[in-house]
This record gives sequence, C-alpha cells and structure tokens, in this order.
Amino acid sequence: MNTHQTFLHAAEAFLNAQDTLAAGFYAESAFALHGKHDGSNADYALSKSIDTFVERLPKPLAHYTQLLKQAKLRALETRLHAHAPFSHFLVGAALIADDETLHIGCNVECSSYGLTICAERTALVSAVSHGKKRFLAIAVAADTNELTPPCGACRQLLYDFAPDAIVVLVNPHGAEKRFTMKELLPEAFTAAFL
Ligand code: THU
Repeated sequence: MNTHQTFLHAAEAFLNAQDTLAAGFYAESAFALHGKHDGSNADYALSKSIDTFVERLPKPLAHYTQLLKQAKLRALETRLHAHAPFSHFLVGAALIADDETLHIGCNVECSSYGLTICAERTALVSAVSHGKKRFLAIAVAADTNELTPPCGACRQLLYDFAPDAIVVLVNPHGAEKRFTMKELLPEAFTAAFL
C-alpha cells in the first residue's frame, strides 16, 4: 500500500513532467493520508514538504479534493442504478478524465452470466464514447466492509487508458482506501509490447 511519501514523490515527478492534474491528485492523496500523522519530527518535515509542494500547483489543493469528492459521490449514487438481479452485488464507478469531466458506470448483469459488465468497464466505455481518452482518477463504490477493488479484467482495461490514475475505493459508510493503478496491476501488459 502506498504511503504519503510515495504519493508525494510521484506528485513531484508528475509536476516536473508538467502533468499538473496527476500531480494534484497525488499531492491530495499524500495530504489525505498524512491526516493520520504521528506527530514526530519526521512527520512535521513531511507536512512542511507537502505544504511547500502544494504552493507549486496551479490550483489550490481544495480543487483536487473537490473533484475527488464529486467522483466518490457519483460512484456511490450510480451504484444504486446497478442491474444486478443475479448477484445482488451493486457497484458504481466514476472516472475523472484529463479535462476534469466525470464519467459514471454501474455493473450490468445478463441472464447469460458471462456477459455481465462491471461498473468500471461501463464507466470507461461510456467515457471513451464521449471522446475521452485519458483518466487520472477513478472512484469505485460497493457496500462491503473490506473495500471492493476492480477485478482483473477491469484492471487491464483501465490500465490502457489510466496508467497514472489514483484508484479510490469507497463504501456508503464513509470508509475509503487509495491505490495507484500501477500498484493494482504491476508488470502490466500494454500496447508497447505489440
Ligand atoms: N463487479 C463490478 O462491477 N466491479 C468490480 O470491481 C467487482 C465485481 C460486479 C460484477 C457482477 O455484476 C457483480 O459485481 C458480482 O461479481
């Protein structure tokens, strides 16, 4: 699992590459995790370096917090539209594209079970249909105590369009966990191999 240090290092690399949206989400994730600090000197130094870093972002940290909050809310809302008469397992997803637009999806099950589509892939296919090609964050909502991560198939499809994304898992009871796409799919197969 990523720590606030690793999120901050990644944010630095994205900012150096002038990818300010990715930098913002990674810095916001460092900040969100750092909320649970231990009060040590090392901790103090880290919160200073997060503060210093945030000043270099083109927009205030609250901008990225707000976008992620919207994505989490929309994933939770969309979950209630899931068509899951066979599993009764409702999932919602919301992707944030590189133009900061949100794209939602829910799982859609089929009487021929294998044709079921997961929430993450529904969101991705809808977003691509709206002309979006790159994504920096995705929120996934399910009502489980142990937060539900994307399945293997979804990880592969998401990786193609969102290798730099932050993946935020939530449930309706306020629990939250964050991963990076690279953490969820290490040693990924990509178009570069073709
Ligand atoms: N499902 C998703 O939509 N996303 C996930 O990340 C895990 C699984 C759906 C597929 C199926 O409709 C139900 O959850 C049970 O597998």
